[in-house]
Amino acid sequence: MEEVKLDLSGKNIVIIGGFGGIGFETCKLLIQKGVANLMILHKTWNESASKELRSIDAAGVCQYMEFDLTCGLEKTRQVFAQIMEKFGSIDVLINGAGICDEQDFSIIIAVNFTGTINTTLVAYDLMDKSRGGKGGVVVNISSVAALTPFPVLPVYSATKGGILNFTRALAVGESSEVFFFCDLEICTTYVDVLNLCLVTCLIHG
Ligand SMILES: NC(=O)c1ccc[n+]([C@@H]2O[C@H](COP(=O)([O-])OP(=O)(O)OC[C@H]3O[C@@H](n4cnc5c(N)ncnc54)[C@H](O)[C@@H]3O)[C@@H](O)[C@H]2O)c1
Repeated sequence: MEEVKLDLSGKNIVIIGGFGGIGFETCKLLIQKGVANLMILHKTWNESASKELRSIDAAGVCQYMEFDLTCGLEKTRQVFAQIMEKFGSIDVLINGAGICDEQDFSIIIAVNFTGTINTTLVAYDLMDKSRGGKGGVVVNISSVAALTPFPVLPVYSATKGGILNFTRALAVGESSEVFFFCDLEICTTYVDVLNLCLVTCLIHG
């Protein structure tokens, strides 16, 4: 499979789950890589994480908006429209949020599956060159549970398998093949965790 190196400098990035473990490390590295704008969509405000980001964000690229992945397609469209007003375009969407608490299976499906599909489709439309977009990249974080289901996490495994196949299905129509990598270059400090993840990167347009 072809490996594609992304030049992130000057790019407008949206990350969901930027205060989570993988998301936070990703944000720190994105700031160091010279992105133009980094919109962190968070469900719960994290003062200490935002303070740490501010301490390395000399250029002031970070912005924050509250966002719950379970809000539905229409609300997701509205939030992304607001980001478009601020940034003009979205070059990269990183779907970095996810949960694995199986106590309420409807929530895990709403976050990991439906919510991730909603944000992917909304960003995909905005990036679409045939509709005036500039193209872009959607990064979806699946899991090895998509390939080898975890017996103790059946619903989580189902959502991760679903997201993997969803992203691959969208990639079929693209000139660039979807690709997987376990040591996401922007996240080298988090390699051990990323070896458990299956990062699915969809290059649109
Ligand atoms: N950490 C691992 O070992 C591992 C392994 C395989 C896959 N993954 C996947 O990687 C992704 C990130 O994992 P992590 O370890 O950083 O998790 P984490 O729990 O540290 O962070 C998850 C983030 O998702 C956010 N979130 C939860 N519900 C949300 C909602 N309704 N709306 C918006 N945001 C919401 C949380 O606020 C948090 O910021 C997840 O999709 C996870 O399934 C992680």
